[in-house]
Order: sequence, then C-alpha cells, then structure tokens
Amino acid sequence: MPGRSEGLPLEALWEAPEPPTIPVDRRGGLLPAPLAARHPGSLIVDLLDDRPTVVADFVSSLDGVVALASGSTGAGGADISGHSDADRFMMALLRGLADVIVVGAGTARVGHRHIWTAAYLQPALAGVFAAWRSEMWLAPQPTTIVVTASGNLDATHAGLNHPDVPVIVATTPSGADRLARLPLAPNVRIEAVGDDDNVPAGAILELIRGTGARLAVCEGGPHLFGELLRARLVDELFLTLAPQLAGRDATTSRLSLVEGTSFGEGQGRWADLIGVRRAGDDLFLRYRFQP
Ligand SMILES: NC(=O)c1ccc[n+]([C@@H]2O[C@H](COP(=O)([O-])OP(=O)(O)OC[C@H]3O[C@@H](n4cnc5c(N)ncnc54)[C@H](OP(=O)(O)O)[C@@H]3O)[C@@H](O)[C@H]2O)c1
Repeated sequence: MPGRSEGLPLEALWEAPEPPTIPVDRRGGLLPAPLAARHPGSLIVDLLDDRPTVVADFVSSLDGVVALASGSTGAGGADISGHSDADRFMMALLRGLADVIVVGAGTARVGHRHIWTAAYLQPALAGVFAAWRSEMWLAPQPTTIVVTASGNLDATHAGLNHPDVPVIVATTPSGADRLARLPLAPNVRIEAVGDDDNVPAGAILELIRGTGARLAVCEGGPHLFGELLRARLVDELFLTLAPQLAGRDATTSRLSLVEGTSFGEGQGRWADLIGVRRAGDDLFLRYRFQP
C-alpha cells in the first residue's frame, strides 16, 4: 500500500539566509538528481570542529504528541506520521548524511524489523543513497548506536543483524552482563559506559566520537532525546508536523490517535494545511479538518 504523501516533493517555503561567515566544515550540498526530485535544492548540515554534531529528527502530531506510550507498547513514529512517505524520505536523507544513528532501546523495541539505514526507508533509492555516500567519502552505512540501561534487547532484531551495519550497544554494567548472554551477531559491540541505571549523554557522545563520526542523527525517542538535550548536545532539530491529532482518554489516561483522524483507517478526517506564517522564530500554522 503506498504511504501517505507518496511521491510528493518537500517544497521549501522559507529557509534562513546563509550566515555571513560560512563554516569551514559542512556535510551535504546539492542533492543527486533522484533525491532533488523530492527535496529540491540542497541539504547541508554545518559541522562543529570540537565535537561531533548531533541532529535530532522527530515527527509530532498537531497537538504535540511524539509517542503514545513509553516502551514497547507505544506506537512508532510511523503511526504518528500517518505512514507519511515524505517523512520517511526526509528521515532517509538525514540517514544518508549521517555517520551515526542513535536510538533509545524503547524506540528499537517498537519495530523489530527496522534497520537504521536510508535504504530501509526508501528501498527503491538504495543505489542512489549508496552512490551519494560514496561521493561524500562516507562509510557505506551509518553506525547504529542503541542506548539501553537494562540490556533488554532482542538479539534477532533486524537492526542488530545487518552485516553491513556496525552496531554499538551503549549500556550499563548490568546491561552488559545481560547482553553478553545473548547470541548477538558479530557486527554488534557492547560498550558498558553507563553507571548503575543510566548512560550519560557525555558517554554517548564519546562513543559517537570514538567511531570517528562528524555527524550523528538522534532518532529518539523522548527519553534519549531528553538526556542529550539536557546536556546541550543537540545542535539541530528536524521536526515533521503530521496532520492528525492524539489525545488522552479520560478514563484510561492513555494517549491514542483520535478516532477518525488517523490515516490508514480508511475513514480518517484529513487536515489540510491552509496557512503558514512566521514571526521571527514563531511559526503559525492553520489547518482545516475535512468533514
Ligand atoms: N515521533 C517520533 O518521531 C518518535 C521518534 C522516536 C521514538 N518515538 C516513539 O517513542 C516511544 C518510546 O519512547 P521512549 O521515551 O521510551 O523512547 P526511547 O528513549 O527510545 O527509549 C527509552 C529507553 O531507552 C533506553 N535509554 C534511553 N536513554 C537512556 C539513557 N540515557 N541511559 C540508559 N538507557 C537509556 C532505556 O532502555 P532500557 O529500558 O532498555 O533500559 C529506556 O527505557 C515509542 O513509541 C517510539 O515509537 C517516536
């Protein structure tokens, strides 16, 4: 089944002008033609010279929900985006630029078939992404870093078993004990860099740096993002706003996508974007729900 927004271009409505001094190091540039067909123009991330740059990527519902629940019971970002192909494409572009993808174990546990590569999100463009990375002198695939205190990972998870994707599991000493008993694939390395119940942001950064990376993309979830944010280690945020709503059920107190606004259910109420304004860094969006 084609995803929502299949094939739609990501039009640029506004972009900040170039800063007067161009940083020395940047990642990206003009995109290869098959990628520029969906994302016209260029995609560039400025690179810091004293530590790896960390860019985060999230999709939110209109009312600001990025996860319906914490842990493996939560719906994935794809549910929040309404299975938006444009969102998958944007994520793939960022993966295409990245040396490292960092995810929390809660996010990993939601999708057992997920592999943190651009090709997984856009299989038809796998060759284009491979050639683009090669042109940028990047490794064929970004390294995946999964952060877990408990070490509660499924050794059969597809994202831990792709021979071309190096994986580092950043964990605590007890997490490492648990992981050492699992039949993990040879591409997976366990790093016990945390204390008893946490892997500090600084330790995650040092693991990223240890791979030689200049650019890491954090794909969440909220716990991991919070850890990096509090340590002031997030340099940019790519935020997709998906035109659906989530709300908390008054009786169960659980968040869920509001009946009738979820895409893929056939009878969803679709929201149309009908206005975009900005005042400085404030963004004003206007949506109209279809009856
Ligand atoms: N909308 C979006 O763009 C988006 C993006 C990503 C995720 N999500 C959703 O978010 C939900 C999961 O939320 P979450 O907050 O639980 O996600 P999460 O941060 O991916 O997972 C939390 C788990 O990750 C591990 N973890 C994270 N930071 C850690 C740290 N500093 N030290 C040690 N362990 C750490 C812990 O694993 P252990 O329990 O193993 O110790 C923790 O329980 C899922 O539904 C997912 O689909 C949405």
